[in-house]
Amino acid sequence: MTPLEVILWVAIPYASIAVFIVGHIWRYRYDKFGWTTRSSQTYENRLLRWGSPMFHFGILMVIAGHVVGLFIPREWLYAIGITEEIYHLGATVMGSFAAVLTLVGLAILIYRRRTVGPVFLATTVMDKVMYVFLAAALGFGTLATFVYQVFGGGFHYRETISPWIRSIFIFQPQVELMQHVPLLFQLHVLSAFALFALWPFTRLVHVFSAPVGYLFRPYVVYRSRDAAGGARAPRRGWDPVKAPDPERLRRL
Ligand code: HEM
Repeated sequence: MTPLEVILWVAIPYASIAVFIVGHIWRYRYDKFGWTTRSSQTYENRLLRWGSPMFHFGILMVIAGHVVGLFIPREWLYAIGITEEIYHLGATVMGSFAAVLTLVGLAILIYRRRTVGPVFLATTVMDKVMYVFLAAALGFGTLATFVYQVFGGGFHYRETISPWIRSIFIFQPQVELMQHVPLLFQLHVLSAFALFALWPFTRLVHVFSAPVGYLFRPYVVYRSRDAAGGARAPRRGWDPVKAPDPERLRRL
């Protein structure tokens, strides 16, 4: 095990996770009013209406796939009948679909940001840096999946990357598991950790304030101020315009 390997597969992951946690606490305490998506919907909606749902549905599928592939030991899946073949087929088909959906969504969002004047003007330097690392993590992950899982013989990341990431979370890092992982996967993991370190300082903080409760809240009931207005049956034609009450106008 070389010092470089310890830096790559122990120091960088822990540093990134620490910055991610402390950074969010710092941002919440010192920049609560800047905690926002910085939405640009008022400037442009035609491209956003396609790009945003594609990107967000895609990335949610990618995250679900990562939770299953990285954090659930394969023996547990074998126990409920998900064999190596079934897992590999499912992960590759759904993973490729999710990856393409996310990347096309991201391409639309970046194109919009560059070509729609007001959206471009509202783009900060931090947004641009974030897009580079987001695209890198997505790009390397997709490339690795296509090169090894779709067109190659299949790389067994559940014997290497998955137990390694779990070893990080239980504070017993096993560097040797990452030593012979193909370069594309290594670049994917490193760009993901770079993204995690940037995360608290970007608009990505909005992930932790997604308005999920909105789906379950009770309806907001609107009632007319006019006591009779809501109850009486609509009449044909126009309602007469009432002359303003001079006494009421005087009080205003
Ligand atoms: C340290 C954290 C991460 C690790 C260890 C990791 C590991 C992996 C592995 C093993 C695959 C191959 C999955 C397969 O082919 O079945 C993969 C694919 C992929 N990853 Fe990651 N990943 C990480 C973070 C991320 C992040 C933050 C993103 C997005 C910004 C991302 C986006 C993707 C995409 C788009 C694919 C291809 C589609 C898919 O299989 O879901 N990954 N990653």
